[in-house]
Amino acid sequence: MNNPFDMLHPTVMIRNAGFRGRNMINRNTIINGYGQMAKIGYGTTVGGDCIITGDIEIGNYCQFGWRISIRSGDHPLDKATVFSNSRLLNGVVGSGREGKISIGNDVWIGDSAIILKGVKIGNGVAIGAGAVVVKDVPDYSVVVGNPSRIIRKRFDSEIIALFNQLGWWDFTFEQIESLVETHELFTFSIMEDRERAVQVLTRCIMLKKHLFALGNLFTTPLMVVESFG
Ligand SMILES: CC(C)(COP(=O)(O)OP(=O)(O)OC[C@H]1O[C@@H](n2cnc3c(N)ncnc32)[C@H](O)[C@@H]1OP(=O)(O)O)[C@@H](O)C(=O)NCCC(=O)NCCS
Repeated sequence: MNNPFDMLHPTVMIRNAGFRGRNMINRNTIINGYGQMAKIGYGTTVGGDCIITGDIEIGNYCQFGWRISIRSGDHPLDKATVFSNSRLLNGVVGSGREGKISIGNDVWIGDSAIILKGVKIGNGVAIGAGAVVVKDVPDYSVVVGNPSRIIRKRFDSEIIALFNQLGWWDFTFEQIESLVETHELFTFSIMEDRERAVQVLTRCIMLKKHLFALGNLFTTPLMVVESFG
């Protein structure tokens, strides 16, 4: 197996998870797909003391802070007990309350945030420290609080549509750095120079189409880690 990690702290524990490469996982974090496969996108980095369990899909270039909880299963509320531990009746009580969590690309999650089951988070989202995310979050929103609320969008709808059309997160680190257009995209404030942003985004979209036609876009196979730590 190729090593998908730029950094994997020796105290990390992983079971049934797939990584798309260039990942960094910090101290004491637990990632466990349980019966499912937890999928983590290219370049995505996870801070320390995080717990990510169950049916989870995370996109490329996400950055998570520390002590974040992302878990797709709840304990049962309708059975005789909420005790779903496998030591009782061989786990037959089960969870029964699963909801896949999907997180888009380029998502930043602040320290101590909690993402609850069934939530879908869009591309380019920023989640404030300590937020409890109970509902879906649209692309490029900034959300805070418990229960979380949207305080604003990062960009207007035309810019958001261009970012989604481009999908810059399909490029590798090396491509972004070496291609003049993508390199430029990351070097100025989108809000302060909106006109330039529209021009550069449009050029990047054309470039990506060209590279796609040449078969020069990278693909990111999932590298499965069945057990580590
Ligand atoms: C969410 C965040 C990105 C917003 O930053 P911002 O746009 O500069 O926000 P502002 O400071 O202008 O605050 C806007 C409003 O949201 C509130 N707010 C900001 N962050 C909040 C948070 N984490 N929880 C609750 N409310 C928050 C502010 O009190 C303010 O409310 P008001 O309009 O009623 O006064 C930032 O506050 C945050 O939480 N960053 C994460 C920090 C972190 O965890 N870093 C380590 C991981 S890398």
